[in-house]
Amino acid sequence: MKDKLLNAKNEAISLILSTHDSKELEEIRIKFLGRNGTLTTLLKDLVSLPREEKPIIGRLANETKNIIEDTFNQRLQTLTKNKQSMTNSIDITDPGIRPPLGHLHLVTQAIEEITAIFNKIGFTRKRYPEIEWDWYPFTALNFPDNHPARDDWETFFIDHKPDPKLGPVVLTPHTSSGQIHEMQKGEIPIRMINIAKCYRRQSDTSHTPMFHQFEGLVVDKEISISHLKGALSYFVKSYLGEKRTIRIRPYHFQFTEPSFEVDVSCGVCLGKGFLPNKQKCKLCKSGWLELGGSGMVHPNVLKNCNIDPEKYTGFAFGWGVERVLMMKEGIEIDDLRMLYSNNLNFLQQF
Ligand code: PHE
Repeated sequence: MKDKLLNAKNEAISLILSTHDSKELEEIRIKFLGRNGTLTTLLKDLVSLPREEKPIIGRLANETKNIIEDTFNQRLQTLTKNKQSMTNSIDITDPGIRPPLGHLHLVTQAIEEITAIFNKIGFTRKRYPEIEWDWYPFTALNFPDNHPARDDWETFFIDHKPDPKLGPVVLTPHTSSGQIHEMQKGEIPIRMINIAKCYRRQSDTSHTPMFHQFEGLVVDKEISISHLKGALSYFVKSYLGEKRTIRIRPYHFQFTEPSFEVDVSCGVCLGKGFLPNKQKCKLCKSGWLELGGSGMVHPNVLKNCNIDPEKYTGFAFGWGVERVLMMKEGIEIDDLRMLYSNNLNFLQQF
């Protein structure tokens, strides 16, 4: 009897400790302590023991029962605790949390679209410095010293020792400085689209101190105004839509001769200036919207870059990325500064 109790105790303890969950544990409890369990049956057998053995074996049997019950209770606690801590850390069956996905800024989207449109007709995107010696955005572009235009551009000057030949350091106020870098390479024919940041001291609903321009430059033999008109019309139709047309008006730039201001027909009244209800179009008032400058490269500029103006001619244009973006149908931005305000509610709409 003594041995049987001892064996039951050892077996029960080792089985209890090797259980993995409360269901397994319950099965072991029934096996030993249930109505027909090993220990219960042994206890029942106590009655048939000789009198003198009863108290000793009886005490041993009680101790065995208590030990088994204690071990059972401890194991139950451990198993429940483990289960809880597992639920607190990871439940691999839980649905995941999607991190928020961003997208390209709408100005970057516009730059990519403009680049692709010009790539199709053989223009290659180039990039030139935003911080320049004065010579590139002004002197080489045929601006005489002290020309009032240098003030008109409202240029940012960098506090740096001027170069004896190239002058002071500035933040480039237009992408036309890239024309000089490109032509100085002396690799003709040129078909460049230079898209970059420009800086001018200005800030109101239609101007930001930092903005983007895209500058086209073509230099080759026998390049004429028709090429310029063709390229600009192609761009406007590709970017703004087939219905839009352009017109060119005489203008003045130091670095082009002749120079033109380019207008595009208004997307709201389609160039009529009036709406179907005979009211004046509020957006353009005249049927046309100003797009930007263009012209035939000035012979002096070609000479400044060691290109023979008797042999080669070229055209150039430089327009604002933000400006053409705002002329797109369905983009209604009434304050250009919104583009750079980092306001996610605004940016997520595009
Ligand atoms: N650089 C001029 C501007 O910023 C635009 C321009 C570019 C004009 C090329 C003519 C030719 O307004």
